Amino acid sequence: MRVLGIETSCDETAVAVVEDGADGRRCLAHALSSQIEEHRPFGGVVPEIAARSHLDRLDRLVEQAMTDAGLEFGDLDGIAATAGPGLIGGVIVGVMTAKALASVHGKPFIAVNHLEGHALTARFTDGVVYPYLLLLVSGGHCQVLEVKGVGEYRRLGTTLDDAAGECFDKTAKMLGLGFPGGPAVERAAQSGRADRFSLPRPLKGRAGCDFSFSGMKTAVRHTVEALPPGSLRARDADDLAASLQRAVVAHIVDRCKNAFAMAETRPTTFVAAGGVAANTSLRTALTDLATDQGIPFVVPPIELCTDNAVMIAWAGLERLGLGLTDPLDFKPKPRWPLDAANA
Ligand code: KG4
Ligand code: ZN
Repeated sequence: MRVLGIETSCDETAVAVVEDGADGRRCLAHALSSQIEEHRPFGGVVPEIAARSHLDRLDRLVEQAMTDAGLEFGDLDGIAATAGPGLIGGVIVGVMTAKALASVHGKPFIAVNHLEGHALTARFTDGVVYPYLLLLVSGGHCQVLEVKGVGEYRRLGTTLDDAAGECFDKTAKMLGLGFPGGPAVERAAQSGRADRFSLPRPLKGRAGCDFSFSGMKTAVRHTVEALPPGSLRARDADDLAASLQRAVVAHIVDRCKNAFAMAETRPTTFVAAGGVAANTSLRTALTDLATDQGIPFVVPPIELCTDNAVMIAWAGLERLGLGLTDPLDFKPKPRWPLDAANA
């Protein structure tokens, strides 16, 4: 089976073709174009600019992916696109393109939930077997899910306020480290002292595995404001970045510990996904946590943790394999929780 996947829900325009056959799972092409430079002057993603930019780039990327894969459209078994959640202008661009390709070439259309893309990536990269425990940490989400099968998710906890990525992004902005924030904070943290500033540890000792990041963000702001005017020197910024990163990692580990006890079935694997899972110190801490629990920890390579089209093509392929396709009047969804209980 071969599926083309399109991702346009945030600031990456991406098209991929994946195959699952006798020789196993393979990515045949991945054409990705980042809009970071267009959004940088605004210090964050501007939805209107993102939508127009997806429109400008997508056709060319589809062509490039098909050329790189060495395929004709007739060789594909389905066309998948992120149909939500995300910035709706961009999602519409991707969904309309996928529907047009599906309609013209007489192929099934598969509407993929962006979060399901992140959730199933570890099955493509490492063949992880259900059920598994998933920590999904990105710019817009921070949740823990029990993944029991395609479309079968039980949410164990979620953030009560900001997402983890948002916390990194806003901290980077306050420290003048630039955009995108996560990698900038991680870089600064490498030369900083994590014990210089004491930041709050929200919900510590409390049951459940909900998250909260707004208190840490506020504490960073108060710390910056308390420094003598104009004195946010590189040293301070590095130390604050290191302190923040340490607090975020400790909070995530503390909450995930509870999740293991909350799972209905013993998970085969602990999986992390989403852009923040690119963070090395978080990866190390989660590896230790999984080891303590006696199960393996799997995190996809960084380029498949951040937004990409391989995960959308793969989720589309898994759905297609189960006969789960969508009608051409499927409406993109700006908000689309993964678990039915919260839909
Ligand atoms: O999954 P993703 O690419 O997009 C969303 O669906 O949100 O995640 C982007 C988020 C951003 O907030 C970015 O700052 C964060 O992931 N991020 C990181 C790192 N790399 C990306 N956060 C911490 N450390 C990193 N190395
Ligand atoms: Zn994402």
